[in-house]
Amino acid sequence: METDQPATAKEAAPRRITLLPGDGIGPEITDACRGLIAEVFPHWELIEAQIGWSQWCAHGNPIPQETWETLGRSDAALLAAITSKPAREAEKELAPHLRGTGLTYRSPILQLRQRLDLFANIRPVTLPGAAADFTIVRENTEGLYSHDYLLPPHDAPTDSPHHHLWAEVVEDSTVARAVDKRGDVAVSLRVTTSFAWHRLARQAAKLALARQAANPDSEATPTVTVADKPNILRDSARVIRGAVEQVAKEYPQVAFDFANADAVAMQLVTDPARFDVIIAENLIGDILSDIGAGLIGGLGLAASANVGDDFAVFEPVHGSAPDIAGRGVANPAAFLLSAAMCAEHLGAPASELAPAAKLRQAVYAATRTAPTLDLGGIATTSEFVAAVRAELGL
Ligand code: IPM
Ligand code: MN
Repeated sequence: METDQPATAKEAAPRRITLLPGDGIGPEITDACRGLIAEVFPHWELIEAQIGWSQWCAHGNPIPQETWETLGRSDAALLAAITSKPAREAEKELAPHLRGTGLTYRSPILQLRQRLDLFANIRPVTLPGAAADFTIVRENTEGLYSHDYLLPPHDAPTDSPHHHLWAEVVEDSTVARAVDKRGDVAVSLRVTTSFAWHRLARQAAKLALARQAANPDSEATPTVTVADKPNILRDSARVIRGAVEQVAKEYPQVAFDFANADAVAMQLVTDPARFDVIIAENLIGDILSDIGAGLIGGLGLAASANVGDDFAVFEPVHGSAPDIAGRGVANPAAFLLSAAMCAEHLGAPASELAPAAKLRQAVYAATRTAPTLDLGGIATTSEFVAAVRAELGL
């Protein structure tokens, strides 16, 4: 029989969480928050692992094998921030003995998403008092993030890497001119599978129902808006629409809308309250979620979950902010909100959910009492964390 007595967080199931400080502002945010997270979620065993720029520069691999193994032994991961630089810049910063050895930099965040098959990137856009309260579910494993190739010169041997792609584009009017002038030509592919869109649409439908359950007073129909470009990217958009329509039949309580992503971008600014759950392909979702962050006061407040069937990685939407790194002024809110998302994702027992909800409220309160630079205030990272602690009575 259930009792009214809430279990304390101490009784909750133990969890192993890999903590990935990364680089840039990541380590200082992690240092400021580690103790607080350990107190709010005492059943978490925090296991720190290396990832990011320093690993790339020293070893030519931003995710060491040891980190993959730690991840493999964990229930989830919490990542603070990682630098992602274009391949050529990355090559220049490699340790001298590794330069020119053919190593190529691939964003460790993208590696985590792909190798761990974290197919849905859930990005809530919400803040008490803000006009926006919706969630973006971004496809995280394919789409316009899939392939991006610089073609070899047209007159290079036809067995050069990617030369076969010339056949697809050589008749394009601008390509024909570029070939004449020997300009560079690159090609991106939008891989789109119904497999990915079935699971994404299911995830979004479940989320829309969960949002409704959390807001029992609202009479609005749970709605999933597909933000895509069906008038231009016709075939891939048809795959998306077909898959989503199939999933829609499984969820008669959820309304599914199909919208043009550019129009959605405008409406996010002019009328954000109309949205509930938005799904979008990888690049479109990346862009829309930064607009979303802008609606709630910036990237400093935007948290996210990269979710798969077997694992999940929680991370702020912001990057490593090298311009302010090392000054102790970064906003740790998105990291703490990501920790709250992690607890909610893992935690079935109410004992694990209550601290997450309290942490979230305390972070929102601290944005008002101790705003950091990005929020127009002067609080340092540790002052912000102290304000969160005060709200929690710790
Ligand atoms: C994000 C970031 C990443 C992305 C980068 C850092 C690889 O912008 O999480 O939105 O492009 O997805
Ligand atoms: Mn982004």
